[in-house]
Amino acid sequence: MTVLNNKQLLAHEVVEDSNPSDNIDFQTIISRRLNRRSILKGGTGLTAAAFFGALPLVGCSDDDDDNTVNNSAGNNAAIPAQGDLKRPEALKFTAVAHSTAETMSVAEGYKAEMILPLGTPLISGIDEWKDNREQSAESFEWRMGDNHDGMWFFGKKGGAYDAKASDNGLLVMNHEYVNSNELSPFGYYVTQDDTAAPIFQNRRLASDVRREVNCHGVAVVEMSRRADGTGYEMVADSKYNRRITSSTTAQLAGPVAGSDLVKTKFDPTGLQTRGINNNCGAGLSPWGTYLTTEENFLGVFARGQDASQLSAGYNYGRERYGAMENFPGWEYLWHTPEAKDAKIPDEFSRWDMTAVGASAADDYRNGFNTFGYITEIDPFDSKSVPQKRTALGRFAHENCAYAPVEQGKPVVFYMGDDARGEYIYKFVSKATWSNSDIGGGLKAGDKYMNEGTLYVATFNENGRGEWKALIHGQNGLDASNRDLPFNGQDEVLIFARAAADALGATKMDRPEWVSVSPMTGEVYVTLTNNKYRGERDDQPVSASNPRSYEAGGKARGNDNGHIIRWAEAGGDHAATTFEWDIYLFAAPSGLSAENLSQLNASNDLSSPDGLYFDPRGVLWIQTDDGAYTDTTNCMLLAALPGKVSDGALTTTSAGQQTPVGMLASDDNIKRFFVGPEGCEVTGITMTPDFKTLFINIQHPGNTWGAIAGGKTPRSATVMITREDGDVILAESFI
Ligand code: FEO
Ligand code: CA
Ligand code: CA
Ligand code: CA
Repeated sequence: MTVLNNKQLLAHEVVEDSNPSDNIDFQTIISRRLNRRSILKGGTGLTAAAFFGALPLVGCSDDDDDNTVNNSAGNNAAIPAQGDLKRPEALKFTAVAHSTAETMSVAEGYKAEMILPLGTPLISGIDEWKDNREQSAESFEWRMGDNHDGMWFFGKKGGAYDAKASDNGLLVMNHEYVNSNELSPFGYYVTQDDTAAPIFQNRRLASDVRREVNCHGVAVVEMSRRADGTGYEMVADSKYNRRITSSTTAQLAGPVAGSDLVKTKFDPTGLQTRGINNNCGAGLSPWGTYLTTEENFLGVFARGQDASQLSAGYNYGRERYGAMENFPGWEYLWHTPEAKDAKIPDEFSRWDMTAVGASAADDYRNGFNTFGYITEIDPFDSKSVPQKRTALGRFAHENCAYAPVEQGKPVVFYMGDDARGEYIYKFVSKATWSNSDIGGGLKAGDKYMNEGTLYVATFNENGRGEWKALIHGQNGLDASNRDLPFNGQDEVLIFARAAADALGATKMDRPEWVSVSPMTGEVYVTLTNNKYRGERDDQPVSASNPRSYEAGGKARGNDNGHIIRWAEAGGDHAATTFEWDIYLFAAPSGLSAENLSQLNASNDLSSPDGLYFDPRGVLWIQTDDGAYTDTTNCMLLAALPGKVSDGALTTTSAGQQTPVGMLASDDNIKRFFVGPEGCEVTGITMTPDFKTLFINIQHPGNTWGAIAGGKTPRSATVMITREDGDVILAESFI
């Protein structure tokens, strides 16, 4: 046995980028820079050298980004506030300074406490966390998982969802991936056999894989307000406390259920699969269930040499999602433990998509196709089966945000596909909204999420955009399609990326979180960064992705990211056209050519990722950065955006003209929190009384997280309250 690496591993910072399509919209073609040759090909996965290198791998992360800058939007007092509390007219707290400390810092007058770190038992009878391998893999079915990410606080009253209840609630959160250093502090163990088939040359231990599988997924934790009236504590042994992991049975719901392309040895009928994986950003449904996402699921699958012949179209579909032949996955290698160590025969082989049997019912060739969905969970029913809502498409889902619902109108969800050059989507339900469905659980989900139309966005150069429907039999999405013949709506959804290619969707700079303003109804999406922008011929700068920092005569791409926003035509979220601008360019304040929103030291940022409009209309922006981290750790900012077209045209250093929103000021965007060194700040939710803000800290460096016991840094939740117990960002606060 060899200890290959004693550093942090299995982070998910590898950004999968498998969009090889030559899909470039017309405006992009005319603005294309013909003098620039593509250097990088759109490969996926890791080279062997990178695989075993000392650098941590990160999933959806920061990896291409560099500087930071945050831009702001306008503080527009003319826009009416909604909800019980008004949006502040200006941000009056004192900005948190840049920090590279090992500890976190929060705005003066606030308190930030770490809770629920990795390994925290959710039930009694399980040992507290220890810095060793003694805790059984199985015990993690009842512990907090790793890399806490998107989350939601569900107010609870009388045992049911109550959107206004704050004394008691269910905190539901994603556990995105695993840092094996925390779970296996003595190393990442593999047995090497160079004579084995390529995907089996490095084998892992069954117990390590089992522990990692259990550290992924979702946690449901009942929280009660503390006796002193501020903040919350976990209700140990609550009947609601639950873990859903990468081995929990889940239902395939919607048009993909029963498709030939999701039939497996586990369920030859194609109605069920096991597990949810790489759950990144989160969403809430209008009826009060939790929507979790599946992002970098590619990394846990392997693909060897198929024994059975698969169709050319099916192969294209696999590769469009990054699964090339002889691909061992990322470092997870969950398919590799010895079969004799499996507790059930296919415990590990299920992660291998190689077609080895006579038919799909004999192997897991289709297992890969059962991941990559928005998954609905009812936290109020601990026996309920997670539902993969396939009508919303299969891709590297970042999060899922619904538009304000209106009686008698369809329900609309917005979503991003986080990979370089991937797309932005929306789903419009067939059923129309009825307020009587609030609290309706998964039955309401069946009604609104199993039937409807999935659209993909095109952003034109003139500030307008269009939604194109992914419907089988329309717009060339049929068996005549060149790269991937579509034989039904199930195939359009399973290979949504390829369908979107065919419709000429706009390749974006890694769409991360989406959030809809409760004040304007406008939709905001973080585009975190993209090192290929302007650097690869198929991703030239364009108005909607207009920056490519140039150094030494070479395009370096969009290092710092931006936030795009749009207004649907007529304010109708089911509309098929919209108007957009760029709300904010992130950039270091010292980088004047890139700092197009005029950020300063109080509000500059890089690589925006998490994004959340609280119900008052305050926009919270989180960063997952690797470009500005010499100056500052990742952070959380508060902002008061205006609306589309409240700014002016600007020209980027790449020579691209584009509309940018109102410039930043200390009134309209400000740094509220800085995380510990090495971390990503992600996941955000607020209690209905606006008095507690929960955020998550992923993969902190050094010692942060150890204060809860042990020595290893651990991912955890941070609970932020005001020292005087009042409402966060209340107007009176100075
Ligand atoms: Fe898991 Fe794209 O963030
Ligand atoms: Ca990210
Ligand atoms: Ca992350
Ligand atoms: Ca993210």
